[in-house]
Amino acid sequence: MPKKVKVEYDLALINDSYKPYLEEMARVQIFYGGSSSGKSVFLAQRDVIDVMAGGRNILVCRQVARTLRGSVVQEINKIINEWGLRDLFDINKTDGTVTCKNGYQIVFAGLDDVEKLKSLTPAKGVFTDIRIEEATETDRADVKQLLKRQRGGSESTPKRLVMSFNPIFQTSWIFEEYFKAIGWADEQKEYRGDGLSILKTTYKDNRFLTSDDIYGLENEKDKYFYDVYTLGNWGILGHVIFTNWSVQDLSGMREQFTNHRNGLDFGYSSDPAALWAAHYDKMRKTIYIHDELYETGLTNDVLAERIKDKIGNQQVTADSAEPKSIDELRKYGVRANPAAKGKDSVLFGIQWLQQQSIVIDTHCVNAQNEFRQYHWKEDASGNALPVPVDKNNHLIDAGRYAHEQDAVSDGVRFVSSLYG
Ligand SMILES: Nc1ncnc2c1ncn2[C@@H]1O[C@H](COP(=O)(O)OP(=O)(O)O)[C@@H](O)[C@H]1O
Ligand SMILES: [Mg+2]
Repeated sequence: MPKKVKVEYDLALINDSYKPYLEEMARVQIFYGGSSSGKSVFLAQRDVIDVMAGGRNILVCRQVARTLRGSVVQEINKIINEWGLRDLFDINKTDGTVTCKNGYQIVFAGLDDVEKLKSLTPAKGVFTDIRIEEATETDRADVKQLLKRQRGGSESTPKRLVMSFNPIFQTSWIFEEYFKAIGWADEQKEYRGDGLSILKTTYKDNRFLTSDDIYGLENEKDKYFYDVYTLGNWGILGHVIFTNWSVQDLSGMREQFTNHRNGLDFGYSSDPAALWAAHYDKMRKTIYIHDELYETGLTNDVLAERIKDKIGNQQVTADSAEPKSIDELRKYGVRANPAAKGKDSVLFGIQWLQQQSIVIDTHCVNAQNEFRQYHWKEDASGNALPVPVDKNNHLIDAGRYAHEQDAVSDGVRFVSSLYG
């Protein structure tokens, strides 16, 4: 049995609700609930503690490899630095791998990085822990495949699958597989049973939140977003706007994608910059979204590089509210043009998109999330109003810009005044 050492740290750094889970050993562990409830920080803290104690290697995953660096890699680094542990770890600058002086590791991988996953092994022993952030983005089959990688190793060290997420839709495989089976009710806070633990938390479980964060969550006006992100309840979507979309692996179709439609919505600190990269099959009225960009904190020079990586020198129609950013992107070699927008363009754009078939590539998880969640505002009695809830719609906005001209040629009314 691997030798374990006792790790000293200040318990006051850890939110109370999570403390009983520091040494939880259930095979499957679920940490879910509202946003900003401290899930990610706690799990990163526990990763650091466990690796230092020795005997455990942790594979931390998200669906899309690209999103790891800005989130979980950063969180784990932050804890190592803030806790004054930097001397105890080697940190690989390229892939983020954290190696403790005792030889145990925290390794990061995207579930979309199939090749990397195949060959991945820790320096010493096996991955005792597989931890998946934003696990609702994953497919059941991919996760089951991943669990096979935990075979072998010491029998006496329990293996764990740890998943964290916001409960954005009750039709998720995770709800089916783990919550239904035990008859979970939204009022419950935790479950600890045979091989399964579930902890539900909300912003109230996180005493490190700022009053601004709390204000935003408590004053959310939309019922769905309030349910999911403030209360942490499994989301049930009412008046969704798009049902005309499906998910498909488009990697084999790339060569047929020649009728490019690209759109860009700007964002920086809290909102992401969002790029919609699609092919339009006009005959069949089918849009193939084959790539997306969805990232915060990109200055325009970096954004330009990211866009060119994805669409080369194809045109992109961008939000005209930021002419300065459009000019800058052009300076950096992106063929960006402003969207015309115009009166009622949001509603007409949505209406046009509703009349198409939309196929989203499996790796475009943000597009999938937005299409799944985008919904109409409701009146006091729960009836839909002709106003979309202006939230989580960055890629959809980009999509409206991308197809603005298609809507024009289909004679959609709003543009007739603009284009004479
Ligand atoms: N133990 C902690 N110590 C310090 N700050 C924390 C702690 N837990 C959470 N926070 C703060 O709260 C924010 C939200 O927590 P996070 O773990 O990202 O929530 P979730 O993953 O549930 O959305 C973090 O960005 C951090 O600023
Ligand atoms: Mg989180």
